[in-house]
Amino acid sequence: FGSALTLICILLCRAVCVWGGGGLFARNQYERRGSDVTMQCGSLESDASVSWKVNGTDIEAQHQLNGPKLILTQVDLDHNGLYSCFQNPHGERRDTIFLHIGIPPQEPKVTCRSNTYPKGFYCSWHLTHPTYIPSSFEVDVQHNQHSLYVQKDPVHKNRCHVQFPEVFSSSLYKVNVTAVNALGKASSTLSFEESSIVKPDPPERVTASPIRLNPRRLEVSWHSPATWPDIDAFPLKYFLRYRPLIHDRWQHVELLDSTSHTITDAYAGKEYIIQIAAKDTEIGTWSDWSVAVHATPWIEDPLPITTTTEVDFPNETKTSPIPSSKAPQKAEPPVGRAARAVTFFSPLLLGMMLLFMW
Ligand SMILES: *[C@@H]1O[C@H](CO)[C@@H](O)[C@H](O)[C@H]1NC(C)=O
Ligand SMILES: *[C@@H]1O[C@H](CO)[C@@H](O)[C@H](O)[C@H]1NC(C)=O
Ligand SMILES: *[C@@H]1O[C@H](CO)[C@@H](O)[C@H](O)[C@H]1NC(C)=O
Repeated sequence: FGSALTLICILLCRAVCVWGGGGLFARNQYERRGSDVTMQCGSLESDASVSWKVNGTDIEAQHQLNGPKLILTQVDLDHNGLYSCFQNPHGERRDTIFLHIGIPPQEPKVTCRSNTYPKGFYCSWHLTHPTYIPSSFEVDVQHNQHSLYVQKDPVHKNRCHVQFPEVFSSSLYKVNVTAVNALGKASSTLSFEESSIVKPDPPERVTASPIRLNPRRLEVSWHSPATWPDIDAFPLKYFLRYRPLIHDRWQHVELLDSTSHTITDAYAGKEYIIQIAAKDTEIGTWSDWSVAVHATPWIEDPLPITTTTEVDFPNETKTSPIPSSKAPQKAEPPVGRAARAVTFFSPLLLGMMLLFMW
């Protein structure tokens, strides 16, 4: 891999030197998948005779040649490539075109959510179909006929943030996200009331511990999500769910404005899984579940766990799945990584090498 990288560096350097010295810049041409494409060789007159290469090899005879024009019918992704034309009879290069086949974007899927009520909200979006060429997005947010300031998220690519201009507003927010690429654009709009998009982040730092001399109790405590800006003015309520690892059925408790709870009906000696969700006391929807915590009630004489398990639940131990412990662990062999890095470089590299070779 090391020597491959060195080779890539040398080739890149030489390719760049050729580009810089010769001023041989390829131009981009974007075309729609399935369309018929005409490529014009520079500004040559229609009686000029040219020959074409793609990726460095002569174009097959069945492609239609029309003076300085190359015509491709019903293009697909495998027509992508670096096309060059050469004027006959001496073969001077007259043009170099990067052909990019893609499709126009469809309406993006947009969702908005406030996890920092009443400060602001964020919207995220994605395209449901690939476009094969780069797309960018424009976002417009309106409230009471005013455009609001939209801030791009520094980390998440397709996300932006908006401050609420006022609280307890009954006017709708209207979000318009437009996807744009070289072949077209498409917009989606979303309208909502402030109260409908409020969804806190899950509670944090959840702990569960046994209580000495109490074989059926577990003490659970947690903190409100740190992203929730004003817990005093906008209190949260909580929903706690718990079950023994070996059961599928959850038990639930709803709690108002409290960040601890004692479970009193646990099965003695059973390991429990516990999660909590949060919601504004008045508006919005429940958060996702917090990270699961595990705890086992106090037991007087620690018994071998396998024995108690088999006595109480002879069959379920084999059948009840525990989703969290089954997260797939993918070990990536180092060879795979090297191969990926090389693949990533290769289209660019190939293009540059081809330029260099002429
Ligand atoms: C040119 O090379 C690119 C990158 O390797 C490849 O995807 C494309 O299909 C090739 N184009 C043609 C017309 O062979
Ligand atoms: C959304 O924004 C785009 C681009 O600015 C615009 O062309 C389109 O008319 C807008 N749609 C609505 C419903 O406002
Ligand atoms: C456990 O499974 C066996 C056969 O798989 C069955 O005969 C038995 O009744 C089951 N016991 C319980 C408690 O479900």
